[in-house]
Amino acid sequence: MEELDASSLPFSYNHNVVNGVVFPTSISQQRMDDLATFKLRCGDVFIVTYPKSGTTWMQQIVKLICSGGKDDGKTLPESIPWLEEDWRAENSFDDLPSPRFFKSHTPYHMMPGGPPETSPAKYIYIARNPKDTAVSLFHHTRAFKVYNYTGPWDHFFELFTNGKVESGDWFDHVLTWWKHKDDGNILFLKYEDMKRDIRSAVMATAAFIGRDVSSDTIDEIVQHSRFESMKANPATNTSWMSHVRHSAEPPFMRKGIVGDWVNYFTPEQKEAFDTLYAERMKNSGLEF
Ligand code: A3P
Repeated sequence: MEELDASSLPFSYNHNVVNGVVFPTSISQQRMDDLATFKLRCGDVFIVTYPKSGTTWMQQIVKLICSGGKDDGKTLPESIPWLEEDWRAENSFDDLPSPRFFKSHTPYHMMPGGPPETSPAKYIYIARNPKDTAVSLFHHTRAFKVYNYTGPWDHFFELFTNGKVESGDWFDHVLTWWKHKDDGNILFLKYEDMKRDIRSAVMATAAFIGRDVSSDTIDEIVQHSRFESMKANPATNTSWMSHVRHSAEPPFMRKGIVGDWVNYFTPEQKEAFDTLYAERMKNSGLEF
């Protein structure tokens, strides 16, 4: 991917470029270099996504699976931290008991501790259809002050389709993880399937991380991980981040639906994106 030259953009977009991929400014090349040798353990579990694909939702599900369906009141980042953030560098995580849980938005080949195929950790990967992902990321980027981004949708659409937003090119990210979907330590899920049948997603996740959950516990997990429940819950609605967001933008728990893209894509954008999608997804076997 061509490096993003922020000075050439009509709208600023604060970011770092790490190994050629756009990252938020909270993640540096140094941090990612350090994490290349991060010591992973058997029992470690990563929740990995291209941003805005259901990370927070899965954090809540995993947390509830581990607590037997009970909400312990801890915020999601306390229970399942974003490993790559620079400020966590002081904290080696070595003292944490197993199993350790981490969130990540990192492309497959740049994962902390080395590529997943040689790692003792497990990885839950969630993919969401790219049009809804782009719309959700548009609001995310405008909302968090750190990006200093004020561009309109048409501008963001260009950034997204050119892979010049955080975590880089959507197709590269999703397809490289998809290639490894049958590896024993990867569970590949889709946001849209979770929306359609959350119970099955919860059961698959519990089985993957080796937890027995009763039918009653699954009921509780489903209840506490509903969009409306999470939006009302201060431990999951990300209200702890409100000071770093512009209040004029929609909240983090925005809509949580499938198909909101129709309210943003012009007919020309839809056509251009569909052409790109057909080309990039050709023969992948991955459908949304
Ligand atoms: P929208 O902006 O489309 O509403 P991430 O956690 O990866 O950043 O993804 C955020 C997206 O997931 C947001 O999408 C958010 O509303 C949605 N989301 C969060 N919790 C959800 C839930 N319980 N059910 C459905 N969608 C959820």
